[in-house]
Amino acid sequence: MAASDTRKDPPPPIFNQQVLQCLRDWHAASPAGHPWQGLTLFATAASLRTSLNRILLIGLEELAQSDVQAAQLLRLRFADELTAQAVANRLNVVEGTVYKWQREGVERLAETVWQMEADSRRGKQQRLENRLPSATYTRLFGADRHLQAVTEHLIAPEQPWLMAVESLGGMGKTSLAHALCRSLIAHNHFEEVGWVTAQQQQLSLGGVIHQTERPALTSAELVHALAQQLLTDAPDYSLLSLQQKEERLTLRFRAIPHLVVIDNLETLTDVDALLAHLRDWINPTKFLLTTRHRLLDQADIHHFVLPELGQADAIALVRHEAQLRNLPAVTSASDEELAPIYAVVGGNPLALRLVVGQLHIHPLPTLLGDLRAAQGSAVTGLYTHIYWQAWQTLSEEARRVLLAMPLVPPDGGDLDLLATISQLSPDALRDGLAQLVRRNLVDVRGDLRQHLYSIHSLTRTFLHQQVLRWAG
Ligand SMILES: Nc1ncnc2c1ncn2[C@@H]1O[C@H](COP(=O)(O)OP(=O)(O)O)[C@@H](O)[C@H]1O
Ligand SMILES: [Mg+2]
Repeated sequence: MAASDTRKDPPPPIFNQQVLQCLRDWHAASPAGHPWQGLTLFATAASLRTSLNRILLIGLEELAQSDVQAAQLLRLRFADELTAQAVANRLNVVEGTVYKWQREGVERLAETVWQMEADSRRGKQQRLENRLPSATYTRLFGADRHLQAVTEHLIAPEQPWLMAVESLGGMGKTSLAHALCRSLIAHNHFEEVGWVTAQQQQLSLGGVIHQTERPALTSAELVHALAQQLLTDAPDYSLLSLQQKEERLTLRFRAIPHLVVIDNLETLTDVDALLAHLRDWINPTKFLLTTRHRLLDQADIHHFVLPELGQADAIALVRHEAQLRNLPAVTSASDEELAPIYAVVGGNPLALRLVVGQLHIHPLPTLLGDLRAAQGSAVTGLYTHIYWQAWQTLSEEARRVLLAMPLVPPDGGDLDLLATISQLSPDALRDGLAQLVRRNLVDVRGDLRQHLYSIHSLTRTFLHQQVLRWAG
């Protein structure tokens, strides 16, 4: 069988029956409801019957591309309501042949519509997935039960409309939200998906850092960001005022179930205003927020506190990272040998990734000995320690690249952007980046066509403190 054939799943028998029934009912009254209303191909028309016939018509049109006769025969029999005898006369065959061709034709039409539906669904999923930032993870450990728990709340067609994933930095909030979106898109649970990443600090090119009093995401910026994702198909998009964008978004959100993620709701400055905004938009649309701060006093928000990884998952993550970073000694180490990493670092995925990155330079006992000094201090203390340790081992180029990273947008920037910001030669830039990627200080995201380089928000914070100290 050719490869292209194996890709095509044949329709289940019930679908063939539905196609036949719809053909027979071409001129019948509109039913109250129909299973095809759930198809991506379904478009609401004047009546449900018209909508169903439209699906048949686009199927017949497609079928005619490969089998004109079958398409013609089905039209004559069902749309034009000719008798089998009349069709036989017209096509110059006996009546029995018409019935035989009709049976085969219905089957081919069912296959055609089924295939068109599969293509259209894939296209829609791709379109929605393109709204997400690229993932920073290749595999998530210990996330299944969290995915399941949050999914249950998100797919319920009722409260909660607002959900918050809360935890310390590096614990996996963004990754969880990302994995949730992907799975909900794959299962077609939401008609539409939006994703907004709140910027942490405002930076300007040239390395001058403005830690402004400005909120990380104003309501106006939220409206612009969502409009950019969801409204650009409108022909008059470029003419829309902020208020018009907001009105259109409200109409959409109230009519069509969207899932909208607002990632990095870290600053509390503007959160009340932002939430007031979101409350106008809920039902059937749902919002998933990620934040480092607990939104305790918001009664209508469902809180999901993301816990740290357990020991088994933490060790599995360490091995996985070691494999990706080509550290065979770590990959093949026993659980007992790796357990001290968990004992010292805990189950914070980002901290674990950074520590594995350090194993290129330091042997495990040295590294752990050094980290024990920070053990017991707050997580931020642990991070500062890990970052400083990493910093000491970087080459001059790598440091310059890392210091350029806060100027890159949170979702990542490409090599050209980094070259502009860092002012390094292409070779130096590549070397510096390679070091940073090996140490997990910089993430490579995106696909084969385009590599995007990004840093975690905690790394950003560390760099800000660092640079500010130097500046002062
Ligand atoms: N369950 C997990 N398994 C493996 N890697 C993870 C997991 N959760 C997060 N990560 C990785 O750890 C880092 C921090 O995760 P992220 O989602 O950015 O955390 P947060 O948003 O809470 O700060 C990222 O590099 C991410 O790819
Ligand atoms: Mg995050």
